[in-house]
Amino acid sequence: MKALITAGGQGTRLRPITYTINKHLFPIANEPMIFHALRKVAKAGIKEVAININQGDKELPQEIGNGKKFGLKITYLEQKGGALGLAHIISNAKEWIGKDDLLFYLGDNIVAGDLSGLVDKFYKEKLDCLLTLSKVRDPERFGVPIIKSSRIVEVEEKPKNPKSDFAVTGIYVYKPIIIEAAAAIKPSARGEYEISDAHTYLIKKGYKVGFEEITGWWKDTGKPEDLLEGNSLILSSFSGLNLPTKKYPETIKIEGAVKIGKGTKLKGHVVVRGPVAIGENCLIEDSCIDPYTAVGSNVVIQGTEVSHSIVCDGTQILDCGVRIVDSLIGRNSVVKAEDYSLPSGHKLVVGDNAQVEL
Ligand code: DAU
Repeated sequence: MKALITAGGQGTRLRPITYTINKHLFPIANEPMIFHALRKVAKAGIKEVAININQGDKELPQEIGNGKKFGLKITYLEQKGGALGLAHIISNAKEWIGKDDLLFYLGDNIVAGDLSGLVDKFYKEKLDCLLTLSKVRDPERFGVPIIKSSRIVEVEEKPKNPKSDFAVTGIYVYKPIIIEAAAAIKPSARGEYEISDAHTYLIKKGYKVGFEEITGWWKDTGKPEDLLEGNSLILSSFSGLNLPTKKYPETIKIEGAVKIGKGTKLKGHVVVRGPVAIGENCLIEDSCIDPYTAVGSNVVIQGTEVSHSIVCDGTQILDCGVRIVDSLIGRNSVVKAEDYSLPSGHKLVVGDNAQVEL
């Protein structure tokens, strides 16, 4: 079995973050999001992986490399014609897929569990297609199965009136017949070749389409709050302390599962309450880093409490005087107290499509 992982598209719902970074490279627990997908796939015993990227994308191959560090052989496939939908990704990859079975994994999905069980079920039940389902509060955002007598009879993409409260998650297992299904369908009203239509095609043609409910954690990181939730999930899987081998003075308190990178200094009165990840060469001074926070590398945090947030590389947070919560702060940003300069008041340099809550 091969795996095809998606990493193209525009990431419009994550703007302004995605103006300057491909969403699949946005750090979750201090690692590019797509690394989590690559690890899952490697753990399921798959060796050959293709990553679908936008035409002309040089950044992703450069950041991810040839896959050796994950024990994978990675091929990059540019999606010719543009981001025309998930079934279009399959058509675009048809030569690479060949006659092999396929795990199709949407690179913006984060799951807690192992994928081996899915692969086992696919073979044990001799399926042509295995869909994974998860109960959600907002099924209208997803592909939604219509289930009758314990069988999926149709999959509707983002229906206005969903007929179940399940989402089809972005982890699918296929026989190569999926190539025929992807080629047979027409673009939807929004102009995309929908993977849900390819699934419905397989069902209507009598192919064996099974499903498995993902009972553990699953997240499609389409929106900013999803990134924070995904970050919390991955941080929660940390165990124990992982600190540089040096002793901290008594004014520094470290509790719970905490990872701190090389060269990072904690100074003055500092409290770090895990699960927390702090990257390399940071300065954390007179500050409190609360649970579910990931701080990248080369970050300075002084005189501020940061909680349940993602702070990217090179950012400075200086004597803010307010607690920073539920925030995504991009690379090389500066967040500082208003009284650093006059006139007083909140001074903002904010890019397009940003959200600021004062
Ligand atoms: O996450 C599960 C959902 O994923 C399913 O329930 C839906 O049926 C499925 O259509 C998909 O919906 P999304 O609206 O979340 O898909 P999105 O456009 O966010 O794209 C998913 C991934 O595929 C993401 O990694 C971006 C990438 N992509 C997307 C398109 C449309 C590409 O690489 N190329 C594309 O053409």
